[in-house]
Amino acid sequence: MVCRICGDTVDPVLDLGAMPPANILKTSRDERERCFPLVLEKCRGCFNLQLRDCLDEADLYRHYLYLTPNSPSLRSHYARLADHMFGEGYAHEGSFVLEFGSNVGLFLRHLEPRVGRVLGVDPAQNVCAIARERGIETECAFFNRQTAQDLAARHGRPGVVIARHCCAHNKDPHGIIAGVADILPDDGIFIMENAYVLKTLLSNQFDQIYHEHMFYYSIRSVETLFAMHGLRLVDILMAPIHGGSVVFFARRADAKASALRPRNRVQRYRGEEAQALNDALVSVFVENTHKIKADLKALIADLVGRDNQIWAYGATAKGSTLLNFVGITDRQVPFCVDSTPLKQGRYIPMANIEICAEDEAWRGGPDYFLLTAWNYKDEIMEKVRSKGNTRSRFIVPIPAVDIV
Ligand code: TMP
Repeated sequence: MVCRICGDTVDPVLDLGAMPPANILKTSRDERERCFPLVLEKCRGCFNLQLRDCLDEADLYRHYLYLTPNSPSLRSHYARLADHMFGEGYAHEGSFVLEFGSNVGLFLRHLEPRVGRVLGVDPAQNVCAIARERGIETECAFFNRQTAQDLAARHGRPGVVIARHCCAHNKDPHGIIAGVADILPDDGIFIMENAYVLKTLLSNQFDQIYHEHMFYYSIRSVETLFAMHGLRLVDILMAPIHGGSVVFFARRADAKASALRPRNRVQRYRGEEAQALNDALVSVFVENTHKIKADLKALIADLVGRDNQIWAYGATAKGSTLLNFVGITDRQVPFCVDSTPLKQGRYIPMANIEICAEDEAWRGGPDYFLLTAWNYKDEIMEKVRSKGNTRSRFIVPIPAVDIV
């Protein structure tokens, strides 16, 4: 295998075993899930972390059940990101903003009143339909070179192109970035947001590894990728969402010199990453992954052995990796509550845990919730308490197993 960004040699670093695609929830307990290897490998050249085995997009996104939750932490992130875009002059009131991987259009809905025009692009039919019902013009397509040219021909070239948490979801990021480079006008800006690998590693987030996440981006690997398509990194914004995310701002390398002058923080973050991102960090991450597995397995066995009821909170993709890697099933954890109606009544693959509505968590609730959506820890705990459940305690699995 070779690095799918720079072509250099890769080495395996972590094998999580055969796992089902995390977002394909089962419609019945008896349905047999298909499992595929989940192996993380690291590039010797650009330090890209990637999955060894990638599934076809068509398999992953046909029945897509991930709808962006309308959560306070995401809303405040959208507000901060939008303010940054306007404050730094990347967007203005006449801007045409195209977002691909736009899901149900929550971020575009946030931007719409402040810009000239917004257009969403998403590959999942069911998700596009919801976005349109909510008034966001959305085209159903995978973003690649072909789609980019087709969109530009029909809608014109967007001055702002946004890709939030989707550029890791395709085994060929070159196809995506080449498409961006094709349609971005000379003064355009490309905004790409992803989980940040340094945060993923530093806080032991092995559960971020699932089949949809084919790449774990660093500043170094993204700059390598951008350079291959004539794009230049000009700004970086760090964000706390999804366990620690990074927003990259890039322009065409042939833009005018003043537009290409990078913000000071680019140099600072690049330096911090160069110091911290190395083989030793990856080894510690792998060690901690195995420790969390052992600790959580022991804790759950102990609690269940003493007749405690445990449910999971958040039928997240991360939760599927966590539960299945640790070996937790419906025998220890019979239910998982989740706010997404599309997920309710379905089952987490392999773990076979039934998903039910969140109000089950307010009425009585179990002795413990295993926070599989630990990235929303504060808001979930606050919500459970404010709805009158003062009894249940919370098991936080990441960055280390803890009870709060
Ligand atoms: P995410 O971490 O990939 O955004 O997925 C979050 C999942 O957790 C999603 O299925 C919705 C669910 N969720 C709740 O059930 N309650 C909540 O309060 C929040 C914020 C999310």
